[in-house]
Amino acid sequence: MNQQLLPANVKTLAIVCTQWGDSGKGKLVDYFAQWADVIVRGTGGANAGHTISLGGQTYVFHLVPSGILRREKVNIIGSGVVLDPRVLIEELDVLATRGIPCDNLRVAYNAKLVLPQHLVIDQVRESGAGKIGTTGRGIGPAYVDHYQRVGLIVNDLLNLDTLRTKLRRNLEYTSQVLRSCNPDVLGQVFKGLGFDDVKGDGWFDIDAIVSRYFEYGRRLAPMITDTDDFLRTNQGKKQILLEGAQGTMLSVDYGTYPFVTASDCSTAGLAKGAGLSLRDIDRVIGIAKAFYMTRVGGGPFPTEIGGEQSAEWCATRGVTRETERAKYPSVTLTEKDPFGLGIAIRQAGHEYGATTGRPRRTGWLDLPVLRYSSRITGKEIALTKLDVLSQCPVIKVCVGYTYTGPDYRVGSKFLTNGNHLRIAIPMAEVLRHCQPVYEEFPGWMSDISGVRSRRDLPQQLQRLIDFVEVSADVRATLLSVGPDREQTIFE
Ligand code: IMP
Repeated sequence: MNQQLLPANVKTLAIVCTQWGDSGKGKLVDYFAQWADVIVRGTGGANAGHTISLGGQTYVFHLVPSGILRREKVNIIGSGVVLDPRVLIEELDVLATRGIPCDNLRVAYNAKLVLPQHLVIDQVRESGAGKIGTTGRGIGPAYVDHYQRVGLIVNDLLNLDTLRTKLRRNLEYTSQVLRSCNPDVLGQVFKGLGFDDVKGDGWFDIDAIVSRYFEYGRRLAPMITDTDDFLRTNQGKKQILLEGAQGTMLSVDYGTYPFVTASDCSTAGLAKGAGLSLRDIDRVIGIAKAFYMTRVGGGPFPTEIGGEQSAEWCATRGVTRETERAKYPSVTLTEKDPFGLGIAIRQAGHEYGATTGRPRRTGWLDLPVLRYSSRITGKEIALTKLDVLSQCPVIKVCVGYTYTGPDYRVGSKFLTNGNHLRIAIPMAEVLRHCQPVYEEFPGWMSDISGVRSRRDLPQQLQRLIDFVEVSADVRATLLSVGPDREQTIFE
């Protein structure tokens, strides 16, 4: 169906986010899944959350690729992913009860395993100073173990002796790490995770973990295979869709370090995590949510609406969609107070973490970030969630920054107070001192969810899109005007 969506010379398409994630990737991957034969996730793990609306139902996935609903397509969890088998099996169970058997899923035998100790380390680290605001899903510690060369891979779940040997080695290393942790915090984390059954002598009961994970292996065995080889063999023959996770500004290599995730979620990292090379990708679509954007967790966010107050509120434990709505029941998009407007946008865009339920910090579209990230992802972009601000009378677009921090050396350049920046410098030390310079535009103030062509959009919105294209030197080929597949303009 719809094999003509893209020109015939495009065989491998990558969809990545140009911002800090949560830009509507799930919907776009689902949209392009109609074109693809194979859909692949290559990076990250259960920290991701993809929401897809289909026939009035909402699906949230963390590990299974977003093409899973299309039964005739091969869906792959690639070798660059850190995979928590417990989460995957939970997802498979949920999908099975909705009548989706997932027999079209393949799991890389060399994907990295997330084990209980990774969740423990992640959460203990997050309980102290220097926290990043991670999702607590063990992502960073699992990648660390991989690079430390004490990690386990999915294939180890299939071989009892290897599983035991490698786990023992890993836990020796992990115990050294945990010994430096505050025992009270450690106890609380164990309790919170409900891992009592794997806590034995020392901290972990190896036998209990081995038998549980070997059982997971038996369950997943029919899916486990050499997906790198499958993709290399089929590259250029089948239509392959690479599904990004998180976003370029969260990439450990290109993002606002250290407030990033632990994988390279840029296009290059995605290709590698699928066993391919960047040269194998024929086309990249970078997603930018517009005309607002979001960030979850800590880290600088120059265009945050409501600034520090918003950041603190969103980091407050226990704030969820429900508690926020109860406290601020009547905020609207006409709100004058920035903090209230940020909440109104969050509510209008349903910006609460699919994985953690945390409120996402909201900000205006940041062109210095887009100029930076489009150098990495390319010039073709999708603007998503355009319908969310339909009732917002004034739209602000950040066109540059004024640096207001202390003198700071960036390579051969010196930044001083008052300098203007056109392009984001992805260093937390710099970005946290960047004040946005805005241009203001009148909102379009009408419902666009039924519009299906760019020229039928309200003039004010067309002008905004043109402005972004010219100002950031990008081409917006795809516009999303609502959550459903059909609410997509791709010209
Ligand atoms: P981690 O990936 O759980 O280690 O979290 C590191 C940072 O990335 C935190 O700021 C998270 O909020 C952020 N992060 C991780 N996954 C996502 C995602 O899917 N969307 C948005 N932010 C994410």
